[in-house]
Amino acid sequence: MAVIGIMSAMQEELAAVLAAMPDEQRVSVAGRDFWVGHWQGHSVVAVLSRIGKVAAATTATVLLERFGVSALVFTGVAGGLGSGVQVGDVVVADSFVQHDMDASPLFPRYEVPLYGRARFAADGVLSAQLIVATQQVLRDAERHLGSDTLAQFRLASPRVHHGLVISGDRFVATSAESQGLRLALPDALAVEMEGAAVAQVCHDYAVPFAAVRTISDRADDAAQTDFQRFIREVASRYSLAILSQWLNNRQA
Ligand code: ADE
Repeated sequence: MAVIGIMSAMQEELAAVLAAMPDEQRVSVAGRDFWVGHWQGHSVVAVLSRIGKVAAATTATVLLERFGVSALVFTGVAGGLGSGVQVGDVVVADSFVQHDMDASPLFPRYEVPLYGRARFAADGVLSAQLIVATQQVLRDAERHLGSDTLAQFRLASPRVHHGLVISGDRFVATSAESQGLRLALPDALAVEMEGAAVAQVCHDYAVPFAAVRTISDRADDAAQTDFQRFIREVASRYSLAILSQWLNNRQA
């Protein structure tokens, strides 16, 4: 049976996934707890990604090497960069760039040395499935979040976006930095700290990878406001609902 790897960026998301798995068993490798079991009849391994590119790359490598996962999905939050990418929206990546990769003048800016490329693609089939699942969840956002939460975070009509996600070992929390990223990589929809690293590992192993990120902030001077509460009350619930819907659709 195909084994699906689920990497969650946040403890709250992982806890929600584990609560939905009836039979999870903990296996500790490289200081990480991998949870092996089933969810909606699918064989899954769920794990906290850890934060930053290297930590997430290690987690992904263990999932591929030790647990033999044949598809990998990442869920978490990101800062919105693209115009119209608002807090409470969801971005499903179609490709990834490490925005802090710079081996120039030896290699072009952003290119990962010896790969001949800066961009790593997300798997088209997985991403299309996740877009459908996200649309289904966002259509019914009030049921998943409750009307109070929707009102408190002013989440009027959350949308799903599909495009470039950029990753780097920085939490982007100033308008100056996010504006710089927008100028340098104009098609970037969102910024986070792991996706491009995991995409590179999955490229190395030729394993399909996709990522779903709820927009928690606009990567500007207000980026830290209510971050923990947003994760608890919005992002974790979206992640659980989207993954659950996705697995359910795959069964159908
Ligand atoms: N994850 C969520 N928001 C982020 C931001 N502003 N920068 C980097 N990673 C993030």
